Amino acid sequence: MKTIKDYDVKGKKVILRCDFNVPMIDGKISDDTRIKASLKTINYLIDNDAKIIILSHLGKVKTKQDKKSNSLYQVYLKLKELLNTNVYFSKNTTGIKLEEYVSNLKEKEVLLVENTRYEDIDDKKESQCDMKLSKYWARLGDIFINDAYGTLHRKHASNVGVCMLLPNGIGFLVEEELNKIDSFLNENTNPFVVIMGGKKVSDKIKVIDNLILKCDKLLIGGAMSFTFLYSKGFKVNKEYVELEQLDYCKNLLTKYKDKIILPLDFKVSTSLEDTTYLTKDIENIEINDKAYDIGSKTIDLFKDNLNNAKRVLINGPMGVFENKLYEEGTKEIYQYLTDNNIKTLIGGGDSASSVNKLGFENKFYHVSTGGGATLEYLEGKGLPGLRVINR
Ligand code: 3PG
Repeated sequence: MKTIKDYDVKGKKVILRCDFNVPMIDGKISDDTRIKASLKTINYLIDNDAKIIILSHLGKVKTKQDKKSNSLYQVYLKLKELLNTNVYFSKNTTGIKLEEYVSNLKEKEVLLVENTRYEDIDDKKESQCDMKLSKYWARLGDIFINDAYGTLHRKHASNVGVCMLLPNGIGFLVEEELNKIDSFLNENTNPFVVIMGGKKVSDKIKVIDNLILKCDKLLIGGAMSFTFLYSKGFKVNKEYVELEQLDYCKNLLTKYKDKIILPLDFKVSTSLEDTTYLTKDIENIEINDKAYDIGSKTIDLFKDNLNNAKRVLINGPMGVFENKLYEEGTKEIYQYLTDNNIKTLIGGGDSASSVNKLGFENKFYHVSTGGGATLEYLEGKGLPGLRVINR
């Protein structure tokens, strides 16, 4: 696969696709991990005298109101703060003003274009990979570099359409993510333990099917464990149970009964607003109890199963870690893994933000910036954003 290093970028207009789909709270960036993770590629292009045009999406844009809440303006301010060069922002995703910015761009300068999904207002042109829009964006540059690892599972105009029309390659972030995940999965050190959490079994079936063959143990926490427990006959709050997945869970538990470990207890309450909770064994949980974290017996059970692990892959938190009352399960597992220097790869969904929120940055082998992209990669599928990269 071609990479950024295969091109002489001096004086060239490089269209760089980044994934700046960052979480925002009250109009401010609440976690800038994805922006910081893109700096290596941006700085390489600056150091090598390219003219850099950055495309990215942010959130979903279906209405005019969505445009306001999903502007990349805050990302522009952040880039200005982080980069030692002139950074410009085009409020327009197409048109004469954008073209003027592009033709005035000098070597080492950066132009961030407003959210590519603004083009979704008009017939979902970005998300449907409209070729007219792809050609328009491709005409703005000479080379296309895809560093939007988190978007590799999408087939959109700004990451796939443009890529098909220009000499192209991957950036350092995509290269590093793929190398880290591949070498982790292909390493033959065992026991290999997978820990899964998060909300839905249905989102993870293909990942489970792929990883269950490779791992020695699968520990399941988070709300997705309720569907497994319900399929075994335990009374758990049906709000979280995916009835259509009960047969899948039952079959998996029968086939891999020695591999799959389920929780023994949970912290339960009446709602997240209620600041009190009880820890209940799974046998004592009642139909109205809402479980928000794994309990201490489960934490111990999971630690026992991690005892001699050589590799651990984590996909999804153990509980509602955003709430202090329910962060313990996720935090204790992270603490155990770091205390024991166990090689740990974290990826998919909410896992990366749980690492930052709970104070474990830079403590693991790799924390992926991808949610859906990492999940689909772990399913063993090819990713649309990679299929179109020049070989
Ligand atoms: C992500 O955060 O998973 C990527 O940026 C893709 O975003 P999307 O799910 O809105 O396409």
